[in-house]
Amino acid sequence: IPVDPFDLVIFGGTGDLARRKILPGLFRRYCAGQMPPEARVIGAARAEMDDAAYREMIGEAIAEFGDGKAVDQDKLSAFLETLSYVAIDARGETGWRALAGHMRRKVVRAFYFSVAPGLFGDLAERLNAHGLTDDDSRIVVEKPFGRDLASARQLNQDLAAFFDERQIYRIDHYLGKETVQNLMAVRFGNMLFEPLWNSQFVDHIQITVAETVGVGGRGDYYDKSGAMRDMVQNHLMQLLCLIAMEPPARFDPDAVRDEKLKVIRALEPVQPHHIVRGQYSADPDDPESLPDYRTAVENPKSRTESFIALKTHIANWRWAATPFYLRTGKRMVARSSEISIVFKDTPHSIFGEEAGRHRNVLSIRLQPNEGIKLSVTIKEPGPGGMRLIDVPLDMTFADALGPDGAENVDAYERLIMDVIRGNQTLFMRGDEVEAAWAWTDPIIEGWTNRGDVPKPYDSHSAGPDAAAQLMRRDNRDWREVT
Ligand code: BG6
Repeated sequence: IPVDPFDLVIFGGTGDLARRKILPGLFRRYCAGQMPPEARVIGAARAEMDDAAYREMIGEAIAEFGDGKAVDQDKLSAFLETLSYVAIDARGETGWRALAGHMRRKVVRAFYFSVAPGLFGDLAERLNAHGLTDDDSRIVVEKPFGRDLASARQLNQDLAAFFDERQIYRIDHYLGKETVQNLMAVRFGNMLFEPLWNSQFVDHIQITVAETVGVGGRGDYYDKSGAMRDMVQNHLMQLLCLIAMEPPARFDPDAVRDEKLKVIRALEPVQPHHIVRGQYSADPDDPESLPDYRTAVENPKSRTESFIALKTHIANWRWAATPFYLRTGKRMVARSSEISIVFKDTPHSIFGEEAGRHRNVLSIRLQPNEGIKLSVTIKEPGPGGMRLIDVPLDMTFADALGPDGAENVDAYERLIMDVIRGNQTLFMRGDEVEAAWAWTDPIIEGWTNRGDVPKPYDSHSAGPDAAAQLMRRDNRDWREVT
């Protein structure tokens, strides 16, 4: 179903995100018939160039960063016709009148701030001063949304000076991933899980987001952020909220976000001995192309973490006795994002301990091979007597629906279409972001004050040994990163 006609202005229209994600994503929606032909996309950035040069740049980006399938050249030409370009100065007057000349009446107006957060306030102010927005206009902002509570508050205030909260779409692309939404469907669309979804039946929950890539060319940004700010405060926190929240009364933006906010506010401060920070070492087999973290960020004394593992609790009736373990890192052994709900042992084994015992685990895999599996215990087939084994009950939709049953939609495609539809459910509200920083700040302050130095870990490993110890002390283990 096509969305309403729109004018989408992308500030930072020549940047990495626009070329890698936003425009290839829009092209896919165009091919799928969801982006109406009357929609217009206006790239805006500092560089001088004309529409033809911009279209050429984006055509190349789609070839390079598209989904790898052959590009339909007729559709690509038609899509590129919807693009235009305006050279603009976010802090000056250049380009704003030209931009105003591009905007049409009676279509949805959306402004994507794909720029450094330091420019959010300037853009908001100029959009307003030049009369480019109305009550129904939307603005989309990317992470990082601040680097601590104070800066996030400031950004919220800068935006609130010109826009209502219902107009502001704060992107966390993890919320746009297919399985994240499926997680809500599984939790709230079935009778099976919700009665067991609490400390009485759940032993612990673990969330792992492992990446094989290093910091690449983003060393400058990353070294000032680290895994806590780059991944935990936003992506892992959002996953934790969706797992832990109470059932919202409706699947609507504020009902969902109210419940998520309650979870963040109920998070306990993390004890220093419940955190392990790590920094990756060079790959001994290939130290030239895969250097150690400090070389990669060109900061020989860096104390920034490229890996973090921590244990936290949610202080409410549902979860007080269930620990949540979070782990994320770069240059790990495999790319794998998985949430595991590990259920408790059965209270008594009628088969005797020698039959073996297994725990039910509901694993929700975001990537790769997305899907949801429930491990259940059955009898080992055959004549060997009553021995128990673990088998996965596979709820992977791609298998269940067949190869044509599920369309693969990238997170950015889905989220941009949601902006045009005016649906904020998968976007973070200002108070959520602030609450997440309020929980994160003391943790970071703690290790800064203690002069904590991250532990080295081998490239292509599961992180520092201390992370495994964090679990073992509790008689638990991390799930293998595969
Ligand atoms: C980004 C982080 O938000 O998410 C990156 O800044 C990280 O450091 C990326 O690599 C991971 O996203 P995905 O979708 O590849 O898991």
